Amino acid sequence: MIKFNNVSVSFKDKKSQIVHAVKNVSFEVEDGEILGIVGTSGAGKSTLLRTVNQLQLPTGGQTIVDGNDIGSLSGAELAKARHSIGMIFQQFNLVSTKTVAQNVAFAMEIAGRSKEEIKQRVPELLKLVGLSERANVYPNTLSGGQKQRVGIARAVANNPKILLCDEATSALDPETTNDVLQLLKEINHKFGITIVLITHELDVVKKICQRVVVMNRGEVVEIGDVFDVFTNPQHEFTKTLLSHTFDLDLPDRLTHDYSKPLVRIVYNGEKAEDAIVSNVVKQYAVDVNILHGKIEYINDRPFGILIVQLIGEQDEIEKSLNYLSKNTYRTEVINERN
Ligand SMILES: Nc1ncnc2c1ncn2[C@@H]1O[C@H](COP(=O)(O)OP(=O)(O)OP(=O)(O)O)[C@@H](O)[C@H]1O
Ligand SMILES: [Mg+2]
Repeated sequence: MIKFNNVSVSFKDKKSQIVHAVKNVSFEVEDGEILGIVGTSGAGKSTLLRTVNQLQLPTGGQTIVDGNDIGSLSGAELAKARHSIGMIFQQFNLVSTKTVAQNVAFAMEIAGRSKEEIKQRVPELLKLVGLSERANVYPNTLSGGQKQRVGIARAVANNPKILLCDEATSALDPETTNDVLQLLKEINHKFGITIVLITHELDVVKKICQRVVVMNRGEVVEIGDVFDVFTNPQHEFTKTLLSHTFDLDLPDRLTHDYSKPLVRIVYNGEKAEDAIVSNVVKQYAVDVNILHGKIEYINDRPFGILIVQLIGEQDEIEKSLNYLSKNTYRTEVINERN
């Protein structure tokens, strides 16, 4: 388990001004979970993550990994603790003069593994990441996705308990991103490795994380289950950050038509599977004109948004809206004149 206990990190910038990059952050990462950290640029995400393997020392508080205050370890102890933590980056950081196999072997050599062990394990690792055929090529002949696979093989070479990912898929196209995320999920599942993942891509969080931490200006403003945070954000910053994730754009001619109520219906969890719209049509004298909609699954829980026009007499429309409000997660009229 990783425990951030009131962690703060300050830097002096070039003009000797103090920058408070991380401010009093406290939360825990559970063993075996995939936790995402999101926030705007400069929020302190990378700085916080780097305290886990002591690439960055906290200037206040402690980062505790498996019961050890990582800041108090020295020399051999720190080296040992670091080997139980793998890390991957956006820019891959491979050694260009070493082949794929040598890059992976290098991580094991540094950790003091024997030649026999390395000889046996490197092919297994390359098989795990689907690069057995590319063992003897140099990184510059690989695609971005393949480079990140080498990065992953290298990061898990010493059987770490924790894998830190800093924007690991940010340089990849959507399809390659999906492949790499699948691989991370597999590694998490197979070996029980705890994954802490920083990303600016909210889709990445929706796809593989169980919980998410939202950071703004060095502080954690919200933490929770991904489904809950995405479907019902509490903090204003989170609301703004997530405001476009479920956008459904309609042409102006529809949003500017005030003659019929335009209603956004948000379903969540089990309610997404109920026949709520058809019930409205059966129970009230209204027509429902479906204009837009989608259902997403986050951690296997459905979350749906539907935009409809209600057509009928005013009192029947009122009754329908009342019914929808009671039976959905959220129902709002979105074309009311202010
Ligand atoms: N070594 C350093 N010296 C001085 N200031 C630093 C240093 N590292 C980070 N900072 C500052 O600390 C703040 C947080 O930086 P950090 O890299 O942790 O943000 P981030 O959330 O990872 O942003 P991004 O999404 O852009 O990667 C920024 O204002 C940054 O300029
Ligand atoms: Mg960063």
